[in-house]
Amino acid sequence: MKSMPVVEAHGARIPILGLGTWDLRGRTCVRMVEEALKLGYRHFDTAQIYENEAEVGEALRASRIKRADVFVTTKVWHTNFHAGELERSVEESMARLKLPYVDLLLLHWPNPAVPLKETINALCKMKARGFTRHVGVSNFTVKLLDEAVKLSPEPIVNDQIELHPFVDAAKVIAACKRHAIAVTAYSPIARGRVQGERTLENIGKAHGKSAAQVSLRFLVQQGIIVIPRTSKPERLKENAAIFDFALTGPEMK
Ligand SMILES: NC(=O)c1ccc[n+]([C@@H]2O[C@H](COP(=O)([O-])OP(=O)(O)OC[C@H]3O[C@@H](n4cnc5c(N)ncnc54)[C@H](OP(=O)(O)O)[C@@H]3O)[C@@H](O)[C@H]2O)c1
Repeated sequence: MKSMPVVEAHGARIPILGLGTWDLRGRTCVRMVEEALKLGYRHFDTAQIYENEAEVGEALRASRIKRADVFVTTKVWHTNFHAGELERSVEESMARLKLPYVDLLLLHWPNPAVPLKETINALCKMKARGFTRHVGVSNFTVKLLDEAVKLSPEPIVNDQIELHPFVDAAKVIAACKRHAIAVTAYSPIARGRVQGERTLENIGKAHGKSAAQVSLRFLVQQGIIVIPRTSKPERLKENAAIFDFALTGPEMK
């Protein structure tokens, strides 16, 4: 893989392609992170709820790639949003990852039962304590995003949302642009559903690419970060081969 394009936001430099790890467990997870590193992936997305932080950390440490050369995201689950619980849960995440810090710590899902101010302040405290280099959110709507930006003593650098050719998130993307927040697309190949979709397959044929590659290219060509997940080593390569072609204006439309 040639050097990976990055998306910049408030000082964060996020590789535009990462490996999603939801549902990758145990040795499969270790193996996929190791294989991805060998292929040149330098961005990994995990979360407390995925129960694989230990495996992601294990593979990263075993690779002996310099910590500064890899971008690692983890996410705080919404049941840990009260101040003390958030801090404790992140300390536990770090103990599982066995890394000195993560690059990005996200609030995984909004929780209206806990005041956002309390949660955001606790999140930013984790940055001040050196556990993370940057903070952000996930699944935040425009209203919540505006509120988070207003409340946060630290820049919100990222909103991770569901994004692929079958969903329209134009309003959230516009809000992110307004706040100079990077957008990460989760489920960027619609959990595999892009495969076999006629329009995407036809566009792919014109470029010698698969529907999955067209879906990923559609997103990165808009400056959106993608974190496709696979449990198959051969698909790691396929999902990374998206920087050697460009979609035309009509194809993007
Ligand atoms: N923030 C959040 O709330 C949130 C929510 C959901 C996901 N995420 C993150 O986003 C990541 C990606 O999302 P996702 O796992 O939901 O879905 P996804 O990446 O869109 O799709 C994964 C599915 O597609 C298949 N696949 C992978 N590459 C393929 C290819 N080239 N051609 C055809 N099928 C392919 C995989 O099967 P095989 O394993 O058989 O290849 C798997 O079933 C997650 O792993 C997680 O890190 C975050």
